[in-house]
Amino acid sequence: MSFPRWTNALTVFHPGMDEQHRKLFSLAEILWLSVNEDGEMIDRAVQDLVDYTYSHFAHEEAFLVNIGYGGLVEHKRKHESIFRAVDTIVDKYATEDRKVFVNELSIFVAEWLVRHIVAEDMEYARFIAQQRMRRATDTAPPSQPIAPRPPPADPIERLRRLKAAFEEELISADEFDTRKQEILAQL
Ligand SMILES: [Fe+2]
Ligand SMILES: [Fe+2]
Repeated sequence: MSFPRWTNALTVFHPGMDEQHRKLFSLAEILWLSVNEDGEMIDRAVQDLVDYTYSHFAHEEAFLVNIGYGGLVEHKRKHESIFRAVDTIVDKYATEDRKVFVNELSIFVAEWLVRHIVAEDMEYARFIAQQRMRRATDTAPPSQPIAPRPPPADPIERLRRLKAAFEEELISADEFDTRKQEILAQL
């Protein structure tokens, strides 16, 4: 089995948050790979994963406050419930078989990451995209006034040009006559 990884499909259109999500996947995978290591290595991998999860939530919430995201309260609630679930698994560590524990925690984190990013983090990604669009329209330069049409060229000049076109065989004799009549009618 290969461990789930961050892909471009999970981007929230914010490089800092994408980087933190990527790191969370890596830490979960490090824990998953440490299944046959000694207890100390596993302890460290668990600690790193739990600490980084906590720090990511704190960073993300501060970031959502900064951008004035309306769904902050609900988003915080989701983070709390994920963190409670992580805590519940970690609490079982002492009593559970190490292999079962490592698998359970690493897979749980990777799965909630995908689910939470796709369902909830994408909501603020949409908000960021809308804000950017609004800013771009607000700062767009005013549309240029439509240039007035140039006045029709002087009829004598138009006749001269028409004759030149006929002499260069760019128009037929019939076309020359028709257009000449049109110009003369405007005099
Ligand atoms: Fe989140
Ligand atoms: Fe997140």
